[in-house]
Amino acid sequence: MNRYEGRRVLITGAGSGIGRATVHRILAEGGRVVAADVSAEGLKATAERAAADGVADRLTTAVLDISDEAAVIAGVASAVGTLGGLDVLVNAAGILRSEHTHKTTLDFWNTLLATNLTGTFLMIREALPALLEGEKPVIVNFSSTSASFAHPYMAAYAASKGGIQSMTHAIAGEYGKQGLRAVCVAPGSIASGMTTGRGPGLPEDADMSLFTKLMPAIGEGFAGPETVAGVIAMLASDDGAFVTGTELRIDGGTHM
Ligand SMILES: NC(=O)c1ccc[n+]([C@@H]2O[C@H](COP(=O)([O-])OP(=O)(O)OC[C@H]3O[C@@H](n4cnc5c(N)ncnc54)[C@H](O)[C@@H]3O)[C@@H](O)[C@H]2O)c1
Repeated sequence: MNRYEGRRVLITGAGSGIGRATVHRILAEGGRVVAADVSAEGLKATAERAAADGVADRLTTAVLDISDEAAVIAGVASAVGTLGGLDVLVNAAGILRSEHTHKTTLDFWNTLLATNLTGTFLMIREALPALLEGEKPVIVNFSSTSASFAHPYMAAYAASKGGIQSMTHAIAGEYGKQGLRAVCVAPGSIASGMTTGRGPGLPEDADMSLFTKLMPAIGEGFAGPETVAGVIAMLASDDGAFVTGTELRIDGGTHM
């Protein structure tokens, strides 16, 4: 499939997990990609894989902290310049931290919201003018199963993801007549840096019996990030042409 030939794509969180898998999927389908992440080390590994696949000529990497307004303004402008416009924005960058809600400091709360919710907003605000001039423009945002189902110790994370979901609906309504689609993926039970590497960092005294829905109904446990990347590639292509203002849960049926 070459659904992305001629398509210009900016992906955040591209130095690990689902963001990185999406970079490789879009490159494999012929797209040109700017891969952004706060981790230079992560981006190096993403670029090495693209080189091994023989598609590095269509990839540019950029170190970018999505919670830093000035950096986002400069980073998006630079990405649009590199690509000569923009057709797709994939906002995969995010952090997961856990804490008892009654012990959650304002700093902890603000850090989660500043990265996940405000960072996603800043990327969208800066990318919108170029997207509205682009070809069949699409924004793919990252919600989470925690936005709709109870995930203990994750009030701040869940709030950030619920906010992203609501924001996506508003944007889909606001710009739909101009040809822009905005959708959310809501992953769950996906093996990535967040879930298996650094992990969610649950409180030491976490009551694990509260996690009643942990494992997928299908397969052999957590799935790889490429399972989400394939859905994103569908949603942001013509195959997803009638999908907007909604979210798609991708969790192997963990939450049914
Ligand atoms: N893995 C899951 O089961 C799951 C479930 C629900 C939602 N998600 C969402 O999927 C998205 C991708 O996460 P993942 O699972 O691949 O985890 P991951 O930790 O492997 O990847 C997240 C990436 O975001 C980057 N990042 C963090 N803060 C950043 C910042 N300020 N600026 C730029 N980049 C930043 C990290 O460096 C990392 O490369 C996240 O938004 C996450 O919340 C994942």
